[in-house]
Amino acid sequence: MSRLIVVTGASAGIGKATAKRFAENKDKVLLVARGEQRLRRAVEELAASVPGADVEPLALDMSEAASADVLRDRIRATGLPVGGLLCCAGSVPSPGGREVTQVLTEWQEAYRSNVLPSVVAVEALIPLMADGGSIVLYSSIAAYRGSSGTGGYGAAKAALHSYVHVLATRLGPRGISVNAIAPGYVAGTDLFGGVLPAARESRLIRQTALKRAGEPADIAELGLYLCSAAGGYVTSQILQINGGALHGV
Ligand SMILES: NC(=O)c1ccc[n+]([C@@H]2O[C@H](COP(=O)([O-])OP(=O)(O)OC[C@H]3O[C@@H](n4cnc5c(N)ncnc54)[C@H](OP(=O)(O)O)[C@@H]3O)[C@@H](O)[C@H]2O)c1
Repeated sequence: MSRLIVVTGASAGIGKATAKRFAENKDKVLLVARGEQRLRRAVEELAASVPGADVEPLALDMSEAASADVLRDRIRATGLPVGGLLCCAGSVPSPGGREVTQVLTEWQEAYRSNVLPSVVAVEALIPLMADGGSIVLYSSIAAYRGSSGTGGYGAAKAALHSYVHVLATRLGPRGISVNAIAPGYVAGTDLFGGVLPAARESRLIRQTALKRAGEPADIAELGLYLCSAAGGYVTSQILQINGGALHGV
């Protein structure tokens, strides 16, 4: 039976590939992102490439508390419970500098753009989740080995790990699984503003055991598994997917 799946950050990169994978699985998918035009293009692209795709856009900034009500109203209008919530929305803050105020701005921005969008989406939708459903948050290899700038991005991603464990315990009695996916470098996304210097990209690929960058579809497949009956006993885990760039910890 078709489920209702909500993917935030679905207009580009990993979120877009994830929305596509669920559409291929014949689920109904609500795609959420801020920029309306890019989101609409993503939905059109999906509808054209997946025969029978049941996909809809919702333009929202998930770091804003007010978005919770808008998201809830849209879900209620479908009359369906949420079978899967995949919180891909996130971004890397621009490094500001080493002055205290600059560092503070970078850390606040990292938290606002990587923690709050997941918290708003999850807390809005918990009452509307189907028992037995799944929640997936998106961490990063940076949570384990640090990030550029002064480290705010990696720290914000690590904050999600704690949230995963709290949610898994809270929602376990309803059969809802909660996990995070922590990808290594994934090519073909807009996360680095489309311009990752070639030398840095080569270095990131050399660090993998498989000697290739991840692709959005690699990450999407893991999201689908975590939201499947087959993956139903996996909960409260941070799943690293990085081609062996960082050995399992
Ligand atoms: N790419 C990588 O190498 C990599 C590695 C590790 C972890 N990750 C994580 O994986 C997730 C997806 O990354 P990606 O590479 O696919 O990035 P991306 O290509 O830049 O896509 C990010 C998506 O999130 C949306 N978004 C950002 N902030 C939002 C907000 N406040 N509310 C709603 N939507 C928002 C963006 O659209 P709008 O800007 O229009 O809102 C876009 O659809 C992120 O959490 C990222 O940190 C990525």
